[in-house]
Amino acid sequence: MNPILVRPADMVRITTPALAEKYIESQISALREQIGDKKVLLALSGGVDSSVVAALLIKAVGRQLVCVHVNHGLLRKGEPEQVIKVFRDEMKADLIYVDATDRFLDKLAGVTDPEQKRKIIGGEFIEVFAEEARKLDGIEFLAQGTIWPDILESEAGIKAHHNAGGLPEDMKFELVEPVRILFKDEVRIVGKQLGLPDNMVFRQPFPGPGLGVRCPGAITRDRLEAVREADAILREEFEKNGLEGKVWQYFTVVPDFKSTGIKNGKRTFDWPCIIRAINTTDVMEVTVEHLSDVLIDHLVKRITTEVPGINRVLFDYTPKPPATVEYE
Ligand code: XMP
Repeated sequence: MNPILVRPADMVRITTPALAEKYIESQISALREQIGDKKVLLALSGGVDSSVVAALLIKAVGRQLVCVHVNHGLLRKGEPEQVIKVFRDEMKADLIYVDATDRFLDKLAGVTDPEQKRKIIGGEFIEVFAEEARKLDGIEFLAQGTIWPDILESEAGIKAHHNAGGLPEDMKFELVEPVRILFKDEVRIVGKQLGLPDNMVFRQPFPGPGLGVRCPGAITRDRLEAVREADAILREEFEKNGLEGKVWQYFTVVPDFKSTGIKNGKRTFDWPCIIRAINTTDVMEVTVEHLSDVLIDHLVKRITTEVPGINRVLFDYTPKPPATVEYE
């Protein structure tokens, strides 16, 4: 039987470590009761919700949890390494790491339509995950990082909530959803209490199709690498300048056109890198974070000298509306 499926009307908002601890303890006994001595499978993306679900399940049932981390090649620099370090090395989880980069990039080669790109990434993800699941014996449960706003939005008809992660019909698992009744801010407090690192718990939103939507048009390996390197520099500089955790979302985009430049006295013909940094509360309306001139100059210098293929840096100062946050 699934434990509590609906957030009780009188539930106190989790705002303190003590309240988080109380929730963790109640979930551990509920999870043990639900799962018994059976095995649970989890697609661990490294995002906040699935990471907190993993940490809770590791505490409750240890190595009865099998985590699968699919690297689709569109993750940010250092992300797969961090998932392995935190979950396999430190928390001793049973973690299967699948580097499916080539498979995804081969399927995406030459595909320019944004919707088509998203469909390929989402479909391939389920296929890789299902393939891994079929190799395992004795799995009876599937854990999901469903949170309370997902349920509210699906009830309101805003967003389709994928039960069982969109897995093929013949793969039947009972669901385990240990953060289902929590709001996002509560998931973060619970994650911190479980000992997850701050940059995992408080990380900015990152779309499922990952860097794929920040490499507009047909994705090529060299342009994808340029987006990844520039993004890593941007994140490093935001952290150094105390902007991490203060600015809601910030990232780079490398569009598919080139312009003329000069490097070491020679003509170059390379891509521009666009920087976008925004603030919002509900993502329906978004304002732009205005960076200091000193930081702008520094970012331009680092990105144009350190990232191969970039000879120009542009800043996107457009709010939403009229622009969306992502480019695709
Ligand atoms: P837009 O571009 O619609 O983005 O203004 C609003 C917020 O949603 C994130 N986003 C996504 N998140 N899968 C996700 O999980 C997606 O396909 C996706 N597309 C956009 C975006 O990063 C921003 O925070």
